[in-house]
Amino acid sequence: MIRFTAPYFHLSTAGTSYVMKISEQGFLEHVCYGVGIENDEHIPLLEESGRIRLGTVPYTDEQHQTVFPDNILAEIASAGRGDFRSSSIELWKDGSMLLPEFLYESFRIFEGKSASFPASALADRTVSTLEITLSDAACSIAVILRYTVYEEDDVILRSMRIENRAGGKVEIRRSSSLLLDIPFGDYTLYSYDGAWARERHETAHVLKSGMTVIDSKLGISGNEHNPLVFLENTRGEAYGFNLIYSGNHMETAEVSPFGRIRVTAGMNVYAFQWNLGPAEAFETPEAVMTYSPSGRQCASANFQNFVRKFIIRGRWKDKERPVLVNNWEATYFDFTGEKLLRLADEAVSGGIELFVLDDGWFRGRRDDTSSLGDWEPDEDRLPGGLKALADKITAKGLMFGLWVEPEMISRNSLLFSRHPEWVVRRKEREPLVCRHQYVLDLTKKEVRDYLFEKLSAVFSSCSLSYVKWDMNRTITDYPDPDNGEFLHRYILGLYSLLDRITSAFPDILFEGCASGGNRFDLGLLCFMPQIWTSDNTDLHDRIAIQEGTLMGYPSSAMTAHVSASPSHQCLRHSRIESRFNIAAFSSLGYELDLSMLCNEDRMAVKRQTAFYKAHRCTLQKGVFSKLVISSNQRFWYMTYGKETIAAQIQTLNECHSGREDRLFMPFAKDECMYEVEARREIIPLCEYGTISGVHECGESERFFALVSGRILKHYGLPLGPQFTGNGMSPSFRLLGDFGSRLYVIREV
Ligand code: GLA
Repeated sequence: MIRFTAPYFHLSTAGTSYVMKISEQGFLEHVCYGVGIENDEHIPLLEESGRIRLGTVPYTDEQHQTVFPDNILAEIASAGRGDFRSSSIELWKDGSMLLPEFLYESFRIFEGKSASFPASALADRTVSTLEITLSDAACSIAVILRYTVYEEDDVILRSMRIENRAGGKVEIRRSSSLLLDIPFGDYTLYSYDGAWARERHETAHVLKSGMTVIDSKLGISGNEHNPLVFLENTRGEAYGFNLIYSGNHMETAEVSPFGRIRVTAGMNVYAFQWNLGPAEAFETPEAVMTYSPSGRQCASANFQNFVRKFIIRGRWKDKERPVLVNNWEATYFDFTGEKLLRLADEAVSGGIELFVLDDGWFRGRRDDTSSLGDWEPDEDRLPGGLKALADKITAKGLMFGLWVEPEMISRNSLLFSRHPEWVVRRKEREPLVCRHQYVLDLTKKEVRDYLFEKLSAVFSSCSLSYVKWDMNRTITDYPDPDNGEFLHRYILGLYSLLDRITSAFPDILFEGCASGGNRFDLGLLCFMPQIWTSDNTDLHDRIAIQEGTLMGYPSSAMTAHVSASPSHQCLRHSRIESRFNIAAFSSLGYELDLSMLCNEDRMAVKRQTAFYKAHRCTLQKGVFSKLVISSNQRFWYMTYGKETIAAQIQTLNECHSGREDRLFMPFAKDECMYEVEARREIIPLCEYGTISGVHECGESERFFALVSGRILKHYGLPLGPQFTGNGMSPSFRLLGDFGSRLYVIREV
């Protein structure tokens, strides 16, 4: 709900309040964002009296000697007029920086939300929007600050529209979607960082005086720093922020000399400059924010629900995602039609539902040095083209899916020989090369039209249920003129192509990919319901990658595959059951040569897919949370309704620990009873040789218990001892290094 009781705007969700006010001088000031305030009459009590005198800090005028721009809680900030913290808007005209002072002009409140850029969340009746127009008469610039309130979900979306009311051109050099001033507190900023195969590892930055910047300059949202961040204070309150955008982004958290904490989020200032002509307007992407008094895990649950409900859309939004097999790590480029069909047969007997043909199916593509852009099936390799293969695969009862990388072009391709001018580059320089490829200039309509036509022809040439849309490099060599606009225009071009193609093929399940998770963001999820999380499928490395990703995104949007041992990324050996236990907390797939598996592992795959399908609803639609017991032990939980799937995850096996592990469920209800059942796993004892009689027992625990919520929550349910090195007992659990177990917990 949004209320205006002069001078206050009060935005309230089920559990939170966001309050602003129009100051006596006409500035829009922030009052508070936190736990819900039930009675509007209490709001004035929250205001700081503002009568402090501050040494050398400039004040606005002699009548307001205690109004210091550098210390007010602002909703918008520009440079040059006494607020020395980071600004949210920076405008230049004719070589000079403008010094706007935005004063309140008007507001409007309406149900739903205005169609916003670049791809907005869907609206329903619980959504309302406040637009506040502020303007600066001297500069003839107006800004509209937008706040869309998702009441039931404790989420507020923010964006800004900048309007040029002046006669000449104005340059925008900075335009944050969000600025939030928090009055005080000791905060830690959590960001999700990494590199290829090491995406979204959580980093804690204890905020001290000065600025912390999280950003991407890669041209895409990037694997170095995701736009998702949380702020948590020592009292356990947490704020979460994300951006509905796939390009360069920047999030800042700054502690001012007076202990104010300023957060900004939006497009990056790096290589950005936008020309705004007379009567033109510029829209920022939307930023998403949430608050929880109970820590970032609860703020994360708000985000998981919000993304599932309002970002992901289309026919696959609420549909269960199929279990797939992808041939990439099974064959790489070395495949034939027969080899693929053998893999498909194995997939059928393993209970898999979708077969995905990855890279290498198009003309001349034998390795990664050629052919991107030439989107025609390679008949030499696949006689009868994609149709013949897809027909055979679908006749086996599998759905058929395909890999493409449309935004790229190989120098060695027909397309390059015909249209070298479509490459993103400067005339005077050779563009940088990455994986032997260049970026296609999606700002050009003719490029988008070419791709739409080529892809449409491929997608309609066979029975296709799924497309993996890859993008395997970063963007460099921004072309001129107006290269400050290029990176943003590229993303706009991408969105327009994605909109066209996903609307033309509404039944296809699209999965985003960028060398794994180099573009995992809310902008892409508006078009593609799921994204390939990381090229690293090692079970241990995946713990940090998946935990980080699930802080901001739901499990259905995150894909994870069971791949081979040793891992192709880090050469780690592991058991297939443990690899499944980690991958199961996502949209599941397999990416290994199933025909190379021993019989025990084949049987394991069958049991895994059966288990996954039986609990798919929980695993794909549930809310994720975790409990870290020690550096060696953690629990994962996925909860949907009365069912929770819990995983006990171990790093290294501890010899002779002399105690039993316990199953905890921190959110169990004290007054309820729960059934706990272990997923059955067969332990291939041959792997252990003749050690201490290990060969005497082959099954993991046959565990079933009925237990109270109070015990699960406070004491933990003893699970039985792990092997201690002193001979074997049938009650031992053999987790081993990087081992894990799944438990189904049902409230009864
Ligand atoms: C990228 C993807 C992989 C695979 C290859 C194919 O690296 O992340 O999953 O599709 O491309 O070239």
